[in-house]
Amino acid sequence: MGDNTRVCRKPVDSKEVGLAFGLIFGKYFFNSHHLHYGYWTDDVPVSITNLPRAQEQYSDFIISHIPLGVKTILDVGCGAGALARKLTGKQYRVDAVSPCAILAAEARSILGDKCHIYETKFEQLDTDKKYDLIIFSESFQYIDIGRVFEQALRFLNKGGHILICDFFKTEAKGESSLGGGHRLTEFYETLKRYPLIVATDIDITKQTAPNIALVDDMLQNFGRPVWNLLFDYVGGRHPLLFKLINWKLKKKIEKINRKYFSGSRNSQNFQLFKSYRLVLCKSNPI
Ligand SMILES: C[S@@+](CC[C@H](N)C(=O)[O-])C[C@H]1O[C@@H](n2cnc3c(N)ncnc32)[C@H](O)[C@@H]1O
Repeated sequence: MGDNTRVCRKPVDSKEVGLAFGLIFGKYFFNSHHLHYGYWTDDVPVSITNLPRAQEQYSDFIISHIPLGVKTILDVGCGAGALARKLTGKQYRVDAVSPCAILAAEARSILGDKCHIYETKFEQLDTDKKYDLIIFSESFQYIDIGRVFEQALRFLNKGGHILICDFFKTEAKGESSLGGGHRLTEFYETLKRYPLIVATDIDITKQTAPNIALVDDMLQNFGRPVWNLLFDYVGGRHPLLFKLINWKLKKKIEKINRKYFSGSRNSQNFQLFKSYRLVLCKSNPI
């Protein structure tokens, strides 16, 4: 019998758990290593089985905006390595940054020795190497906005580019149960302080929002029934424990119900509270 004992080597951040879960799910059901929302076009019906196709379209969309002449790329927050693999297949020379040991190991397993993976947060990256292009594929939101451009410029060749594809918070009023993203206004303000020119800025909120509809569907039709079943089971079998859990974790349980099962994590709210954009910046060669 296999030893199923788990030893906790280091505390794992809750965002990392979410990403690792996404990887386990994508790999098991679709053999996919992508960890982003996908790019949904009208000819791809919104269904979980079409997620891998939408995700391939997303990387193709990013690749189609790589400027001519780019040879070397740094893929920051490379996840499980799917984009880096595609880029090496197109003869770009790619290195990657990953602060998450689980994802870095997965990326190494599919990239072999084709890429060097710096296992660190981007904010702490230190290398003498420089690149023609630095890509942030849905990883920009995790990086300290006060440090990200200064760091990126350190590793860019003269006249190099930064490509960001990620979502930002809009200024819409009201409470959103959808977390994540830097404020879009702060992003543009911060950009102005650096020798960077915005060459392309495309709003792809509409093409990425269907992912939220899929997640919402899964939460409503899979997550909520399983969650309720668990409560019914514990309540029926262990009423005292059930009371204790309800009392001790009341606030947490209410927050989970509000955040995940109230139906407010939907595509309309995503389009209201978030702006998903591809932004390509060119560094000023002077
Ligand atoms: C949503 S995943 C996107 C993964 C991949 N780029 C993709 O498109 O499939 C976010 C990625 O950002 C990485 N990340 C989080 N914080 C980071 C940081 N401070 N510096 C660099 N990468 C970070 C995570 O480890 C993860 O790989």
